[in-house]
Amino acid sequence: MAHYRDLLAQIDALLRPTLGEGRVADYIPELAKVAPDQFGMAIATPDGEVETVGQAATPFSVQSISKLFALVLAIQTEGDDLWARVGREPSGAPFNALVQLDAEKGHPRNPFINAGALVVSDVLCSHYAVPENAVAQFLSRLDGRRLIHFDERVARSERNHCGRNAAMLHLMQSYGNIRNPVDQVLGAYCRQCAIEMTCEELARAVTFLACGGRDPRTGEQILPAAHAKRVNALMLTCGTYDAAGDFAFRIGLPVKSGVGGGIVAVMPNRCGVCVWSPALDRAGNSQAGARALELLTTHTGWTIF
Ligand code: DON
Repeated sequence: MAHYRDLLAQIDALLRPTLGEGRVADYIPELAKVAPDQFGMAIATPDGEVETVGQAATPFSVQSISKLFALVLAIQTEGDDLWARVGREPSGAPFNALVQLDAEKGHPRNPFINAGALVVSDVLCSHYAVPENAVAQFLSRLDGRRLIHFDERVARSERNHCGRNAAMLHLMQSYGNIRNPVDQVLGAYCRQCAIEMTCEELARAVTFLACGGRDPRTGEQILPAAHAKRVNALMLTCGTYDAAGDFAFRIGLPVKSGVGGGIVAVMPNRCGVCVWSPALDRAGNSQAGARALELLTTHTGWTIF
């Protein structure tokens, strides 16, 4: 692990002077209060070791990173039937775009744009009494350290400013692609996005995707290897919305970002990674986070390409 430690220290030193460049998300007012110049990064290996730098133990709002874990739960319950309701293509559009969804008759392009994640939440509403708790409990199990909490202020703030997500749900309901009451799905989705976790915890939680779907801590097969491969493929092609091509070009790993400034990445057969810095670029991805991952794969040569 010493080489990871040195690497993280180098990345931290290179990025410190640039922290705060970009803008924190402000369309959810509570997220606008977060200091932009924070930075943390963690690398978790299958043997249980975690190497960190900066504010890797500071909890932050996971936001769209939760879509990854909700998707895994939905695949566990629905299997391939899920793909009848949500696609597997990059959208080439912002994460909250509405026009494409109407043109494509309420069938979201993929499970990581908001519309697709709302369908996934609807699936979870059909299977769990309190779906957001199922996502949080799943994350606690993967992390294996503590109970995962919600940031109630972020949850309320998002619920009060979720007009676009509500519009998407109503639109998809009109096309017959939502089975549960819109309010219920919206509530579950908003609370799921308000889960708060640290880089250390998320790096551990994503490691099973670097291990063919098997949790290296417990030995549990979370997803069959074939499904884990598909989730990684979706992260690569859709995990950062209309910036997915640029991320593949610069970083070359499956990744999933959130507007809280977190990005998780999977280095197959090696480790899980999480980086956090709240200031975002124009596509809504962490600016320093993307740069940190780019430095990591450039220095090590560990990419999937
Ligand atoms: O629904 C939303 O808009 C937010 N809760 C999540 C969006 C998000 O994180 C997009 N990620 N980059």
